[in-house]
Amino acid sequence: MFISFEGIDGSGKSTQARLLADRLRALGHETVLTREPGGSDGAEQIRALLVEGGQERWSPETELLLFNAARRDHVERLIRPALDRGAWVVSDRFADSSRVYQGVARDGNRQLVEALHRLVIGIEPDLTFLIDMDPAAALARSKARGGAEDRFESLGLEFQQRLRAGFLALAREYPSRISVIDGDGPEDAVAARVLAALP
Ligand SMILES: Nc1ncnc2c1ncn2[C@@H]1O[C@H](COP(=O)(O)OP(=O)(O)OP(=O)(O)O)[C@@H](O)[C@H]1O
Ligand SMILES: [Mg+2]
Repeated sequence: MFISFEGIDGSGKSTQARLLADRLRALGHETVLTREPGGSDGAEQIRALLVEGGQERWSPETELLLFNAARRDHVERLIRPALDRGAWVVSDRFADSSRVYQGVARDGNRQLVEALHRLVIGIEPDLTFLIDMDPAAALARSKARGGAEDRFESLGLEFQQRLRAGFLALAREYPSRISVIDGDGPEDAVAARVLAALP
């Protein structure tokens, strides 16, 4: 199975992806834990182009093309071969992040996102866990751990609210694929909700 984790910044995606991968390995399944942008050598190089440099380095359209180039490499070199040999793949973010971030960042880009996805990616996860979290609580959590505060500061709480709404709207659009998980509470409690939602 191909499983992705999605959600706003600091919602617990990386934590829960790791806990699920550990659990699947303990059950004896070969499991590939990966992330986006990145996940393959080429995609990690493209990631550096995306995360470094100023805000104005790329236009939104060029940025979307780079995300798709990275995702295509990730699928070709890592995800598809793993699925073909029967492994489980757990990805920290996948195409839903493009749908939501691009859709929120600029109205009207959602159609471009979908068209490109159909043309050059063409696969969806079998199952997506949307870790849903109040942005203020996610911010408090990051502060407590001294972690991912930068993104909140650069994007702002209001932007995170719009992202959250965007993810929840996407879950309504793909109800059979996207499972909404309450991200509040201790890590193990959230992990138990994830396991309970596995088919
Ligand atoms: N259930 C939880 N309760 C408290 N703290 C948590 C919980 N889950 C994760 N954390 C902590 O909150 C911070 C954010 O978690 P994590 O990195 O998993 O989120 P993320 O969604 O991957 O964030 P990012 O978008 O920045 O990659 C980390 O410091 C993590 O250790
Ligand atoms: Mg993370």
